[in-house]
Amino acid sequence: MNQLDFEGRTAIVTGGMQGIGAAIVRRLESSGAKVAIWDLDGPDKVDVSNPSAVETAVQKTLGRFDHIDVLVNNAGIAGKNAPTVEYPIEEWERVLRINLTSQFLTCRAVAPHMVRRKYGRIVNIASIAGKEGNPNAVAYSASKAGVISLTKSLGKELAQTGVLVNCVTPAAAKTAIFDQMTEQHINYMLAKIPMGRFVTVDEVASLVCWLASEDCAFSTGGVFDISGGRATY
Ligand SMILES: NC(=O)c1ccc[n+]([C@@H]2O[C@H](COP(=O)([O-])OP(=O)(O)OC[C@H]3O[C@@H](n4cnc5c(N)ncnc54)[C@H](O)[C@@H]3O)[C@@H](O)[C@H]2O)c1
Repeated sequence: MNQLDFEGRTAIVTGGMQGIGAAIVRRLESSGAKVAIWDLDGPDKVDVSNPSAVETAVQKTLGRFDHIDVLVNNAGIAGKNAPTVEYPIEEWERVLRINLTSQFLTCRAVAPHMVRRKYGRIVNIASIAGKEGNPNAVAYSASKAGVISLTKSLGKELAQTGVLVNCVTPAAAKTAIFDQMTEQHINYMLAKIPMGRFVTVDEVASLVCWLASEDCAFSTGGVFDISGGRATY
């Protein structure tokens, strides 16, 4: 593993209690960063889809760390697998709120602090599904396409502030999120990956942590592929 320098840096990782988020927390901490985990299951029990919970969490994190250098928007759910014409409206709204509105809320709450300090790195976790659209996963795919657009809009708005905003589009990683999917859907995702295997959480964390570091200096509003060859653009 290459050494990254996060000495003196502070980070927020949403959904950092397990899976990809936990791997990102491990990599940041082992590189010297102090990390606040905003997760429903974490000690602070932050629901990132709730605007007032996000505001409270920002104040608490600033009280603890004084400043915020990095925001990783990772919390998310798969939602139900079903054909689009049968997709329940309540499930559509739940997935959009947790996967997309949450990232809007945290960016909105944290970016002004970063802009004031003229430094920040925001990394949003999207998905290859957001580029390609997976069948039977319309809410998930649309929410992740939204994350890509959110990243591009905010990246352009903040381009001259020292705050960079990028996203990653991983293929499937074997985490607890698989428990929410049908076996058929998991097999579909694996079959689409030219490398013929799932990405590991540590591989995703490597890319995310580079984007969260000072080494990433001339990329913003960018969409970074980590799909084992699946992405065609
Ligand atoms: N695993 C994959 O195949 C895969 C592929 C591409 C993208 N992603 C994305 O990566 C991210 C992490 O996925 P994972 O596989 O590690 O999932 P996971 O289910 O293992 O972990 C998700 C974490 O998010 C937290 N969370 C969920 N809703 C929350 C909320 N409202 N507020 C705060 N925390 C909340 C959960 O408590 C959990 O700790 C998600 O955004 C997911 O869409 C995953």
